[in-house]
Amino acid sequence: MAQVRVTVDGVEYADDVEPRLLLVQYLRERLGKTGTVIGCDTSNCGACTVHLNGQSVKSCSVLAVQANDSEVTTIEGLARDGKLHPVQQAFNDNHALQCGYCTPGMIMQSIDLLGDNPDPSEHEVRHGLEGNLCRCTGYQNIVKAVRDAAQKMKPGAHVDTETPASVTSGT
Ligand code: FES
Ligand code: FES
Repeated sequence: MAQVRVTVDGVEYADDVEPRLLLVQYLRERLGKTGTVIGCDTSNCGACTVHLNGQSVKSCSVLAVQANDSEVTTIEGLARDGKLHPVQQAFNDNHALQCGYCTPGMIMQSIDLLGDNPDPSEHEVRHGLEGNLCRCTGYQNIVKAVRDAAQKMKPGAHVDTETPASVTSGT
């Protein structure tokens, strides 16, 4: 066993884990963070994307012990004071999900993308989300949502985050 100390969605945890335990398994099975989902066994789909020290990673391709002394943010740590993150809200407003399975990973990847490029073109959004697969939407509304969020996240922009939505959860 190895020890992992990690802050997840603002809460500190210390656990003994098998050295081979994947971060996604640790999040889901030990911490109950089931908003982060598993969509493949080939590190291909991006459904498991979380932020590790502010950078998006596929949590199925990282060992839990590699997150030692790190900060992890999952889809469940984005809302503030009951209000959705602007990217969550934009996915809701632009109907950017159908079954919702890819949505947690899409949102985490989109936030990272917007951190690097606050005003991406359609091409840049598509390129930035290449590692995240969606079987339902055809991507059009996802791209719209990311660009909408970019506008709303500009300094001074008004963000209406009143509407509750269910995009934060998965199974
Ligand atoms: S579950 Fe991690 S990339 Fe598919
Ligand atoms: S909304 Fe179903 S996989 Fe993307």
